[in-house]
Amino acid sequence: VRIRVRATGVSPVDLAIRAGTSRSAATLRLPHIPGLDAAGVVDELGDGVTNIAIGDEVFGTVELACLGGASAEFAVLAFWAVRPPSMPAAQAGAAGTSVETATRVLDLLDIRDGSTLVIDGAAGGVGSAAVQLAIARGARVIGTAGAGNQEFLTELGAVPTTYGVGLPARVRSIIDYRTDEHIDAALDVAGHGSLPELIELTGAPKKVVTIADFDGVVLGVQLSIGELGGQPNGKHGLGVAAALFEQGRFRIPVQQSFPYENAAEAHALASAGPRRGKVVLAAPAV
Ligand SMILES: NC(=O)c1ccc[n+]([C@@H]2O[C@H](COP(=O)([O-])OP(=O)(O)OC[C@H]3O[C@@H](n4cnc5c(N)ncnc54)[C@H](OP(=O)(O)O)[C@@H]3O)[C@@H](O)[C@H]2O)c1
Repeated sequence: VRIRVRATGVSPVDLAIRAGTSRSAATLRLPHIPGLDAAGVVDELGDGVTNIAIGDEVFGTVELACLGGASAEFAVLAFWAVRPPSMPAAQAGAAGTSVETATRVLDLLDIRDGSTLVIDGAAGGVGSAAVQLAIARGARVIGTAGAGNQEFLTELGAVPTTYGVGLPARVRSIIDYRTDEHIDAALDVAGHGSLPELIELTGAPKKVVTIADFDGVVLGVQLSIGELGGQPNGKHGLGVAAALFEQGRFRIPVQQSFPYENAAEAHALASAGPRRGKVVLAAPAV
C-alpha cells in the first residue's frame, strides 16, 4: 500500500547507512531516502491488496531490501497493520521493524507463559518492544540497560539490571531459586560481546539468539536476520502489538519526536545514546 506519511521511525540501520558504516551503503543508488518504518493514511492500493481501503490509517514497514524510503511525503509499505485510533501516529510510525524483529526472536526462542528471558539491551527500539511482547506472552523478563534507564525498564515490566562486566552474577541474584526458576532463553539485542555470558546463564548456545553480533554463530548461538536471510519473519506481531496497545498492555516509547526538517538532529540523538525506545520524525499535528 502507498501511504501519505504522518510519522517515520529512526532506526540504527538508517544511521549506519548515512554514516557509511553499513556494507549495504556501498551498493545503494543515490540519492537515498532513509527510513524503514512509517505510519500514515492509505492513499493507493497495490495489486491484490484487499484487506485494507484507501483512507485507512496504518503503520508498517517498506520493502526491507530497499533499506529506506519511509522519510518522505509518500511511502510504499510492504507489510502493515491497522493503527488503532488511540495510538499516536508517532508511536505507530516507529513500530514496524522493532515489533517485527521482537516478535520473530520471541518466536525463535519459544517464549511462552512461564518462560524466564534475559534481554541484553532492553531499553532501545527492539528491546523495549521485546520486553512488553514477552510479558504479554506470560514470560518474566530480566532486562539490561544503562544506569539511567533502570526505572524505565521497570515501567515496561522488566526486572532491571545493568549491562557489562559481572552480568551473570547480577542475573543470578534476581533468579528465584526457591521456585526452581531458571533462565530459559536469552536475547542479545546490543551486540556488545555478552554472548558467552548469556550462554553460561542459559546453559546452551541454542537457547541464545542475537540480532546484532554477526560473529556469534561461531559460538553456536542463533543469528536472526529474518526475511533478508530467508528466515521466518515476525510480521504477524504488528497486529498483536496493535491489539495489545488497545488493551493498555503495549506502547512504543518515544524518546523524542522531531519535525522532518530536523532529521539531522534526530539522527544525532539516536546515534548518541542513552536510548529510551525510539526517535521519531513526525509531521505537525501528530
Ligand atoms: N538482525 C535484525 O533483524 C535486526 C533488526 C533490528 C535491529 N537490529 C540491530 O539490533 C541492534 C539494536 O537495535 P535497536 O533498534 O534496539 O537499537 P537502539 O534503539 O539504539 O538500542 C540499543 C540498546 O543497546 C543498549 N546498550 C548500549 N550499550 C550496551 C552494552 N554495552 N551492553 C548491552 N546493551 C547496551 C542501549 O542501552 P542504554 O540506552 O540504556 O545504554 C539500548 O537499549 C542494532 O545494532 C540494530 O542494527 C538487527
